Amino acid sequence: MKLSAEQIQSNWEIFNNNINDHVTGDRKQKLLDFYKKYEERIILMPASHKKEYHSAFPGGYVDHVNRVVDASLKMYGVWEQFGMDTSTFTIEELVFSAINHDLGKMGDEEHESYIPQTDQWRRDKLGEEYMHNKKIAFAAVPDRGLFLLQSHDIKYTFNEMLAIQTHDGLYDSANEKYLKSFMPETKPRTSLPFILHQADMMAARIEFEVEWLPKFSQNSVAAPKKNYTLSNNIKSSKSKALNTISSPGLKNMLDSL
Ligand SMILES: [Fe+2]
Repeated sequence: MKLSAEQIQSNWEIFNNNINDHVTGDRKQKLLDFYKKYEERIILMPASHKKEYHSAFPGGYVDHVNRVVDASLKMYGVWEQFGMDTSTFTIEELVFSAINHDLGKMGDEEHESYIPQTDQWRRDKLGEEYMHNKKIAFAAVPDRGLFLLQSHDIKYTFNEMLAIQTHDGLYDSANEKYLKSFMPETKPRTSLPFILHQADMMAARIEFEVEWLPKFSQNSVAAPKKNYTLSNNIKSSKSKALNTISSPGLKNMLDSL
């Protein structure tokens, strides 16, 4: 899958609008500054390193995160409708967690986690468009994301810490201590982690379907893709998109898409 320059730019505007619309206090500007600082890396990041996973293409990360924010807000409505106690966390905590849930995928301050795969065989046979950058020490995605936030003096609440930490649900056995407890005292005190996990799982699953299901319909014409648009999608022309970017390097990259 390939996003156009306009889609990539529009996604970046939505990403920043989500911060502007939902994050409050002095951490709002700190978060905007953080993402401005790493803009050129994040705007073109894939959401995963392998095309069998999801959104392993330039711009896939922001596209995925925006979908998770949108899905989290809609999922909140479903849980509310079914009687969830909405007093145990805030919408800001939900959106902040969704915006930053996969932040650890960016790598550290100096190095990206995913760099283009140099081994053609692995590209062709294993579908690995990207490979892990050996220059950075291993850390689980939630751990690195939380470390990046604290090292840039961006405070997060206990609820946000727990939601980001457990966003993979029980797909990550490290989360069993929070999610597989049979004692009421040790269960999460809010439904926030479950909402974020459901939103993330749904987004990744749909990204997989859009990317892969048409390829599985052999000997038949693939069904036309459903046009998914985010509720706060922003229309912009390519020239407008490119005009808003100050970096000549980034401009060139986007222009060539
Ligand atoms: Fe995710």
